[in-house]
Amino acid sequence: MSTRPSFQEALSQITPLLQAEKHPEALLQGVVDFLFEVSPDYSWVGIYLLDGEELVLAAWQGHEVTEHARIPVSRGVCGLAARAGMVVNVPDVSEDPRYLMCFPSTRSELVVPILGSGGVLGEIDIDSDELAAFRQEDEAFLKAVAERLAKILESMPP
Ligand code: SME
Repeated sequence: MSTRPSFQEALSQITPLLQAEKHPEALLQGVVDFLFEVSPDYSWVGIYLLDGEELVLAAWQGHEVTEHARIPVSRGVCGLAARAGMVVNVPDVSEDPRYLMCFPSTRSELVVPILGSGGVLGEIDIDSDELAAFRQEDEAFLKAVAERLAKILESMPP
């Protein structure tokens, strides 16, 4: 396992970045670009937004494009996190029958919902090439990012 990042420091860096951006596309791209650099264990970072019964990939950073640009909420680990409105941490994707494969190198995955005042707005999805890469600290950090992001997305004009 690589050196752990300072999540406290990363959170204090991302907060002004979130507040400065006025356009949703640039905001979401800025967030995934930032998160991708936070930990060497984060191999792919995406943000999906909920559109009816589908999750639509709005921004991503990583070495490969995914073919899962749209995911029905009935499918995958991503769908589960959106349906349940809760964090889904999969330490070993090969052991989870709900997992939809995007990249052959992925070993673990963390999905954190972006919860608005009226329900799920979307989610932050992170794949790692390391087994069991995501710990309690990762979850707490990404929940804090998702919380800030939800407030900003809700304050933006549609
Ligand atoms: N693995 C996800 C699909 C999204 S890709 O990881 C980018 C899932 O099981 O829903």
